[in-house]
Amino acid sequence: MLSTSNYTIENFNIYELKQTSSTNDALKEFPNLSPYTLITALTQTKGRGRRGRTWQSPKGNLYFSYSFIIPIKDLNKLVFIISLSLAQTVKNISPSSQSIKIKWPNDVLLNNKKISGILLENLKEDLWIIGIGVNIVSSPKLTEVLYEATSLQEEGIILDRIKFLHYYLKNFNKNYEIYTKEGFSKIKEQWLEFAHNYHQPINIKTEKELKIGIFSAIDDNGYLILKTNDKEEKIIAGDLFI
Ligand code: BTN
Repeated sequence: MLSTSNYTIENFNIYELKQTSSTNDALKEFPNLSPYTLITALTQTKGRGRRGRTWQSPKGNLYFSYSFIIPIKDLNKLVFIISLSLAQTVKNISPSSQSIKIKWPNDVLLNNKKISGILLENLKEDLWIIGIGVNIVSSPKLTEVLYEATSLQEEGIILDRIKFLHYYLKNFNKNYEIYTKEGFSKIKEQWLEFAHNYHQPINIKTEKELKIGIFSAIDDNGYLILKTNDKEEKIIAGDLFI
């Protein structure tokens, strides 16, 4: 049973569900899935985060996944387009006094606390599932995480979840167009304005080890350049914390 309603926002076909295990999985099961199909649900019973973590999914927050075509060589750059679009959306709706940052590679922080997460999964060939969770009214109170979480409401911002989705999709389309017309450098430039701890000391937890250094750049592939003593190291994946 797929839709309780079906409408479009921008060029996306939107399917709203009351409940699903995970909107990523619901999209994977969508018959003859084509790009620009988007599923959102009020709650998820098995919401998933990165690195096998659980994404708590109570009612009131925004959970959605959409299909998008992107060649594997551009995937890393897509992550920057998505996180930039989320950060711009949060900035558009927040009072100017609030701090909005992106923690490499893709978490948006509002007043130093995590407000959203992205989970990218491949369906087949160049067809990808982009899953996004945004804390609109509540946030999990977890103890063993690297960053505390918050929600728009906890930071004093009241906004309907579908309005947020609408603003996000507008920003995503705009940024994807900039990327296709002007290339990654224009996206990177804007992304760096939001970068958390840029040019400052950071710790990065990779699959294998903990790395410490200065966040000195993002290269043209979207990898983080970490300066340690007198050498520079390219970091492809990891969790950044201070
Ligand atoms: C992260 O670990 O930060 C990524 C969280 C991604 C959560 C979203 S909610 C919508 C979609 N469905 C899921 O099961 N996960 C993603």
